[in-house]
Amino acid sequence: MGRMKRVLLAFLWLSGLISLSCAARLSASRQKLEVQKHLKRLNKPAVKSIESPDGDIIDCVHMAHQPAFDHPFLKDHKIQMRPSYHPEGLFDENKVSEKPKERTNSITQLWHLNGKCPEGTIPIRRTKQEDVLRASSVKRYGRKKHRAIPKPRSADPDLVNESGHQHAIAYVEGDKYYGAKATINVWEPKIQQPNEFSLSQLWILGGSFGEDLNSIEAGWQVSPDLYGDNNTRLFTYWTSDAYQATGCYNLLCSGFIQINSEIAMGASISPVSAYRNSQYDISILVWKDPKEGHWWMQFGNDYVLGYWPSFLFSYLADSASMIEWGGEVVNSEPDGHHTSTQMGSGHFPEEGFGKSSYFRNIQVVDGSNNLKAPKGLGTFTEQSNCYDVQIGSNGDWGHYFYYGGPGKNANCP
Ligand SMILES: *[C@@H]1O[C@H](CO)[C@@H](O)[C@H](O)[C@H]1NC(C)=O
Ligand SMILES: *[C@@H]1O[C@H](CO)[C@@H](O)[C@H](O)[C@H]1NC(C)=O
Repeated sequence: MGRMKRVLLAFLWLSGLISLSCAARLSASRQKLEVQKHLKRLNKPAVKSIESPDGDIIDCVHMAHQPAFDHPFLKDHKIQMRPSYHPEGLFDENKVSEKPKERTNSITQLWHLNGKCPEGTIPIRRTKQEDVLRASSVKRYGRKKHRAIPKPRSADPDLVNESGHQHAIAYVEGDKYYGAKATINVWEPKIQQPNEFSLSQLWILGGSFGEDLNSIEAGWQVSPDLYGDNNTRLFTYWTSDAYQATGCYNLLCSGFIQINSEIAMGASISPVSAYRNSQYDISILVWKDPKEGHWWMQFGNDYVLGYWPSFLFSYLADSASMIEWGGEVVNSEPDGHHTSTQMGSGHFPEEGFGKSSYFRNIQVVDGSNNLKAPKGLGTFTEQSNCYDVQIGSNGDWGHYFYYGGPGKNANCP
């Protein structure tokens, strides 16, 4: 080989290497840019920031600067500072603030230990770069991956197996519903794989189970993918097209309008219940304001968090056609076996109070906007040997159920 040729070959080889690494660097920096842009969209300028003991940063963001107002339909929206109607009677705000916070097993959010947000601001859990990088794509961050609504009437086994989601729920259908309430036992279920989750929530559903399903969801969840840890967190979700293009968890897209300065969506709940030990629960009420048509959410007795504006929805702009309460886990069948990700406490309903997780005082808001016991409560679970549900009723707890289980066990291989 002549010297010139050798030099030329070396040159070609080198320039090939350089252009390869340039391309890699270019696409890495493009992704970084995309992530930065997304973070800037999500994280609004804060008046004050509070570091939570669990590593979260809570940004206190001026109410008018929250993500909801990125929505073109909300540009001229006047924030409603209170609902015009409440199914338990419009509360006297003075009385509420005078009321001692006495609840024996009171639950708070962990970040409260390190500060409060000033009036006129709302607390938002800051999204970090690593949160977005854990998602399959920047666009999917904060959104559900699958259609995962339990569909009790026609429990289609193909659908069940395809999505890998498992449920143990109670439900009502066949009427028009204007809200739902429940007090939900809080646990910290173990998650086998980081891409799985375990949650306990209520669903307010509108429409049939087609491509245009409307859903409002609220409860607690453990989701390592979404939050980067195994903490139990308060969450909400909404969609108006069966999880396709609209909706998200918490405030991770524009939609929900928050008015409360004390409760952060996606923040850790503490303490949680322990087996044969102290039990903790949270109350969630979601109802439709008959005047404005917005769907409001209340946490506990004292916190009206805010509302989903009526225009976000099609079916739910009128009423809900089904209400569900209960648990859901993702079963990714690691190693070809059922996941050992727990639902609820990880113990079956038979074990009862202090051992199995519960929903109590479950109610619906009826056509005259009153809270009522649910009529014709049904139950549904895909594989009762993995996760089960058992309903009951008594004086104190009204309609209630125990639910959950360990997942993988001798009867659920
Ligand atoms: C669905 O999965 C379960 C458990 O893995 C299995 O027993 C059942 O046969 C599957 N059904 C269908 C239709 O594939
Ligand atoms: C979450 O829990 C699993 C075991 O259930 C553990 O392997 C994992 O390291 C935990 N993740 C974090 C971030 O603590």
